[in-house]
Amino acid sequence: MISLGIESTAHTFGIGIVEDRMVLANVKNLYTTKSGGLIPVKLGEHHIEICDVVLRGALAKAGIKLKDIDIVTFSISPGLAHSLRIGATVAKTLALRLKKPLIGVNHCIAHLEVVRLCFPDCKDPILLYVSGANTQVIAYDGGKYRIFGETLDIGVGNFLDSFARHLGLGFPGGPKIEELAKKSTNYIELPYSVKGMDVSFGGLLTNLKTKFGKYKTEDLAYSMQETVFAMLVEVAERALAHCEKNELVIGGGVGCNKRLQEMCRLMCEDRNAKFYCPENQFLVDNGAMIAWTGLLMYKGGVSIKVEDAWIRPYERTDDVEVTWR
Ligand code: ATP
Ligand code: FE2
Repeated sequence: MISLGIESTAHTFGIGIVEDRMVLANVKNLYTTKSGGLIPVKLGEHHIEICDVVLRGALAKAGIKLKDIDIVTFSISPGLAHSLRIGATVAKTLALRLKKPLIGVNHCIAHLEVVRLCFPDCKDPILLYVSGANTQVIAYDGGKYRIFGETLDIGVGNFLDSFARHLGLGFPGGPKIEELAKKSTNYIELPYSVKGMDVSFGGLLTNLKTKFGKYKTEDLAYSMQETVFAMLVEVAERALAHCEKNELVIGGGVGCNKRLQEMCRLMCEDRNAKFYCPENQFLVDNGAMIAWTGLLMYKGGVSIKVEDAWIRPYERTDDVEVTWR
């Protein structure tokens, strides 16, 4: 069975094509800005302009025709409405034209499910989901995907990008900070902000701003990474213990960071758990994770009528009825 998946919750417009457990294509196009933030209307325009190019690219990569597709899946939630709407429109159009089932996928759940595609022996993991807008610890428990911990303010990626902007490093800041941090091992004390199972970054950003100019930027980058990643790994470890699970997976763009991966791996080794880290193309937002999760859902009896397929920008992970596990 061939599943086509459309990802459009934020910057990325991506189309993935999955046949059973094989990824045939995973093509994407990113909306970027040279300076300033993201303008939702412009983001929508970008996705409209490139959606057909991405679709044609994915079909060519997979070596299939539109008529070969068995199901059409798309990210229905959560995300920016301007962006979600474009993916939903393309998906509905395709489903109607091809007369194929339509499946709406929760983006956060797809980040977890795609790791089970990449690693078939990974059965029931805790997901540390660390992207620009999202920072959550998610696991399947009591019949649902539940959020065990999350950020109380901004997402960790947005925090890294704000920090980088203050250092004049440009966007996206995460990879540039990672490089800068490698030049130092000099730890400067910073506020460590874990509250129960949640984390927060606002106070840390304010604190860092008072330190700009007084310390070497590489020392600040190094200390910031050590502090923030320790906070994330602490919460992930507590979720593993609480849920009595022994698999940790990572998702989201910040998961590309090698130091964060190393800290996750070390924590897992210490408690005899397994750490699974997919390749970068499956860590960042991508269409293949939507296609794969949609396929699982369809096999679990889920589909949605075109007239009911309204986007859900604010849907929470635990709002989703799980019938495919
Ligand atoms: P979502 O819609 O899921 O919130 P997103 O649009 O923010 O996703 P992602 O590609 O998942 O997109 O994540 C982008 C973030 O990842 C950016 O904030 C970027 O700085 C960060 N990032 C990318 N590579 C690295 C890295 N090597 N180290 C740290 N952060 C990174
Ligand atoms: Fe994401």
